[in-house]
Amino acid sequence: MSGKVKDSWRIATKAIHGFGGGDPTGSVSLPIYQTSTFAFKDSQHGADLFAGTAEGYIYSRISNPTVDAFQHEIACLEGGEAAQGLASGMAASFNAVMTVCRTGDSFVSSDTLYGGTYALFSHVLPRFGVIAHQVDGTDLNKVEDAIKKAKNCKALFFETPANPTLAVLDIEELTKLGHKYDLTIIVDNTFATPILQHPFDFGVDVIVHSTTKYINGHGDVVGGCVVGDKKFIKSLHDDILVETGASMTPLSAWLLLRGLKTLPIRMKQHCFNANRIAQFLSFHPKIEKVHYPGLESHPGHKIAQKQMSDFSGMIAFEIAGGFEEGKKLMDAIELAAVAVSLGDCDTLICHPASTTQASYTPEEREAAGIKDNMIRLSVGIEDVADLMDDLNQALRKI
Ligand SMILES: Cc1ncc(COP(=O)(O)O)c(C=O)c1O
Repeated sequence: MSGKVKDSWRIATKAIHGFGGGDPTGSVSLPIYQTSTFAFKDSQHGADLFAGTAEGYIYSRISNPTVDAFQHEIACLEGGEAAQGLASGMAASFNAVMTVCRTGDSFVSSDTLYGGTYALFSHVLPRFGVIAHQVDGTDLNKVEDAIKKAKNCKALFFETPANPTLAVLDIEELTKLGHKYDLTIIVDNTFATPILQHPFDFGVDVIVHSTTKYINGHGDVVGGCVVGDKKFIKSLHDDILVETGASMTPLSAWLLLRGLKTLPIRMKQHCFNANRIAQFLSFHPKIEKVHYPGLESHPGHKIAQKQMSDFSGMIAFEIAGGFEEGKKLMDAIELAAVAVSLGDCDTLICHPASTTQASYTPEEREAAGIKDNMIRLSVGIEDVADLMDDLNQALRKI
């Protein structure tokens, strides 16, 4: 799969050709190498592959040509040296953190995270003796205090924009701070995608994605990836992934490559629609507050302008009254699916406190700014006028 990818290509070209060339058969659409195992030329070839003295494929948990192509493409889009595809975004975060941390180590993370990541850090990693110190990532003093207090601190992990509050964290400042203490900086770039935000430009070491979301875009894959330098990705692959087994399937990789081709134009429409809807909601009397980094009133607006080329398609809003009103709204909506996940062509609406962020205690949610009357909207790429008509009719019912 080693074709000629040019660094000078613009992002929309990389999204189509960045996997590095076609198949030896000339097939323009890359085949799905739907195989678990690969035949060796002879027994010596098998031994050489296992010894690492020959290059090739052995078994699809270890590597697969379709997955390799996806890895080339996402590394190219993020501007990283290498990437690893994984079975889910959760597997990506777990493998990334465990590549850096051993038993007895700790790391600092922001406290507003996807609920699954929050649960991984607060409940699962401590069973391996790896402790996460979770603090408000918008407050650099708190982050520095946490780093200083943490024992054997190895990494700083954060999400920006954050799920579900859309808090914007300053990638440049957090990276500088983390590097002062020799930490590996890991950023979850799921909400922004490589189309809108390039964490490596600010010195970040490792990027993780839930590729389930915008990168796929069609709501039919669960996947994840980690992007970093060759040494980091080799260590993640050889020392953890191959033996823990959360590898990406060839079919997922193929669907992700297909999704990536339209990512630049999908993101344009997501951003356009979300911006219009955020403006509309911000003037609506039944909405108390809108969280969208594109609004000038958003506390992270200036930072978002510095580090993002547009503000993505995610909006959170607080509905006047409380969760009962929120439930009525979600039940009255006709176009959007009441569903978790995000980044699909279809608009999705959900209530974070009772679903995606249910792993937080009520006190932890309060501290992270996740209100009970908060609704999260993943704005799709339908016609925005229809989305607004739909929200309008649903809001009239509450
Ligand atoms: C920002 C973010 N990171 C990671 C994940 C986990 O991804 P997955 O569901 O693919 O495991 C999610 C899931 O919603 C997410 O929103």
